[in-house]
Amino acid sequence: MTCVPDATILTALAEILGPKGFTTDPAAMQPWLSDWRDRVHGQAAALVSPATVDEVQQIVRLAAQGRVALVPQGGNTSMVAGATPSAQGGALLLSMRRMNKIRGLSPDDNVAVAEAGVVLSDLHAAAETVDRRFPLSLGAKGSATIGGLISTNAGGTQVLRFGTMRALVVGIEAVLPDGGRFDGLSALRKDNRGYDLRQLLIGAEGTLGIVTAASLRLVSAVGSRAVAWVGLADPHAALRLLRRLESATGDAIESFEAMPANALAMVLRHIPGTRAPLQGQHGWNILIEATAPAGAAEPSERLTALLADAAADGLIEDAAIASNEAQAEAFWKLRESIAEAERVDGPAAKHDISVPVSAMPTFLLDARVAVEQRFTGSRVLGFGHLGDGNIHFNVQPPVDADGKRWLAEEGPKVSSFVHDLVAARGGSMSAEHGIGQLKLAEFARTIDPVRLGALRAIKQAIDPQGIMNPGKLIPAG
Ligand code: FAD
Ligand code: MLT
Ligand code: ZN
Repeated sequence: MTCVPDATILTALAEILGPKGFTTDPAAMQPWLSDWRDRVHGQAAALVSPATVDEVQQIVRLAAQGRVALVPQGGNTSMVAGATPSAQGGALLLSMRRMNKIRGLSPDDNVAVAEAGVVLSDLHAAAETVDRRFPLSLGAKGSATIGGLISTNAGGTQVLRFGTMRALVVGIEAVLPDGGRFDGLSALRKDNRGYDLRQLLIGAEGTLGIVTAASLRLVSAVGSRAVAWVGLADPHAALRLLRRLESATGDAIESFEAMPANALAMVLRHIPGTRAPLQGQHGWNILIEATAPAGAAEPSERLTALLADAAADGLIEDAAIASNEAQAEAFWKLRESIAEAERVDGPAAKHDISVPVSAMPTFLLDARVAVEQRFTGSRVLGFGHLGDGNIHFNVQPPVDADGKRWLAEEGPKVSSFVHDLVAARGGSMSAEHGIGQLKLAEFARTIDPVRLGALRAIKQAIDPQGIMNPGKLIPAG
């Protein structure tokens, strides 16, 4: 059990952090006490915003002395309410947003060193200044921070080629729950000094320590890109198309994102300034991005020819290749706005599942029928990272239902049903968003005892007082 911070701790924090880094003002804290979809509402004793690693260490030491809960927060875009404190209050909400310096960019090492509060799109811009890029992107890139992306092992739309954050973090600096600073920033390509603390902290959702900075892998800048929008009948055709394009282009295909007709229609309905790239309706829409390095042949001609072949073979129904950057961005906007359109559309039981890539097309078709039959009137809206075997298999309430009520009453049953279908195919109930607090009950229900025992042993060893983001990720004993 954690404790509420007493006046001595709060006064010490106010002195250490000054007015820019410490507040108990309810109005200043309020925007940060709910999750992005406004499903969970928490309370905090104070909002602390350190500007240096030393300040983070002092905060953690005080919290450890008083056994006070710390809830780390970056951009607060978590899809599982991972950065929202509990409604009981008493926690310190630890915002990392002021630690937003890019400490270095080394094109020779292909590495950027960024503090935890650096916003992803700012890192993208910084990498461009040295003719490199950081190859991970997602719809929340204007708010999500490096610390949050690391702590959730975020995926996004380029995993197909470059992997998740696990593959992109080459060094890490963190403050552990006793206030000690772990300096693992050196971007070593080889380092076999035992357990890999870097990998342990990636995906730990703030339960093992505070990430303060990271060394991040950069890759060559894009010379040219081709962005295509494809309409086709079903996910089987989509996977066949992906494999065909990969075989023909080597590793040029970076993104292969899937949207069923209902997801596209929802975006067009709710997001101003959007329009469908193709005439007519297609069961599924695929957004494809192919790139080439500077000096290499532009990929658009090759992609156009390959898609023409696919159309001639009956694999796809229609396709459009963006003719300029503005059109390419417009295609991407359609994809990246799905989460926002869903938020406007109303409550839904959201799932972030993965199954082996080859099993995904059949899963998508069968699971949709199974869910809609079992929960009368419910509507499956499954979209996302088909090429990674990761789909956001969301289930919306019947059109005439009170969405909030339906979610409260039916949501848990729907989620269990979906997760059991996923487990039957050897899949995961959390592919890229993590567990946070919204997936905790389902994680506890489905986790196998060996995995659970190991997770708890690691947590107990590193955070024996349980002050780091309590109530998230680790099922209670
Ligand atoms: P927060 O939401 O603030 O925190 C996330 C978790 O990390 C919490 O558990 C928090 O306690 C912990 N944390 C934050 N900073 C630190 C730190 N410095 N040290 C230790 N722990 C910390 N996710 C994907 O994987 N792929 C997607 O395609 C994707 N698309 C999205 C699109 C939209 C529109 C939105 C709103 C979200 C999307 N997400 C996606 C989810 C979200 O953006 C990611 O989980 C992201 O990594 C969260 O970053 P953040 O800075 O907002 O972290
Ligand atoms: C996405 O792929 O768009 C995100 O992970 C957000 C979501 O699941 O809604
Ligand atoms: Zn996603």
